[in-house]
Amino acid sequence: MRKNIVAGNWKMNKTLPEGLALATELDKMLSGCQPKCEVIIAPPFIHLASITATIDTKKIGVSAQNCADKESGAYTGEVSAAMVKSTGANYVILGHSERRTYYGETPAILKEKVNLALKNELTPIFCIGEVLAERESGIYFDVVKSQIEGSLFHLSAEDFSKIILAYEPVWAIGTGKTATPQQAQEMHAFIRKTITEKYGKNIAENTSILYGGSCNPANAKELFANEDVDGGLIGGASLKAADFKAIIDTF
Ligand code: 13P
Repeated sequence: MRKNIVAGNWKMNKTLPEGLALATELDKMLSGCQPKCEVIIAPPFIHLASITATIDTKKIGVSAQNCADKESGAYTGEVSAAMVKSTGANYVILGHSERRTYYGETPAILKEKVNLALKNELTPIFCIGEVLAERESGIYFDVVKSQIEGSLFHLSAEDFSKIILAYEPVWAIGTGKTATPQQAQEMHAFIRKTITEKYGKNIAENTSILYGGSCNPANAKELFANEDVDGGLIGGASLKAADFKAIIDTF
């Protein structure tokens, strides 16, 4: 059966010493217990190698927040999937709305990134979600479906089964305005139905679909209690070990 997962997306926060301190604090907090969900942290690229060398990566998976859409070569400033993998990280967040909005990442570019991540044995945490105007005009199901189709539905069933999805309504990210548990469940059930239509019930039932957007210790339990919500992708509340641990402990 599918896994419950709590993943922390640190975004562009924490210097290297600060990031190491946060990862170490979380590692210590989890060392005496066995969390009832998978735990992943996604620090900035430059922290990855130091963090994987410092913490128990069997207990806390480590993820990049992005990777290049090219394999290697003259792409100044880019970081390839192979480089991410060589740090000891095993996951990569792809398609985050901030990457789509600020860095022009299209479904076609993201398709290349997904392919390269899988080729390098990184598990993509693939983000989808509508903006406020799309929610208000009622086209949010179509938007999310086309994001999935455009970057993932070329995959074989075997490769698709390696993907973790994260539904992050853009209007809920960093705004303090969380989707209601009903809104989250409705969309997650729709996403699972969309996967069922393409890959069948078995793969759909085994795909973890996380919720992201102003998720915190106070609202996580209600959100994760829904049948099709398999955990969370946490931004702001993952920057404090105690808050992140409290969200993990809702499972
Ligand atoms: P917040 O939890 O800060 O709203 O961010 C969510 C997010 O974008 C995680 O990827």
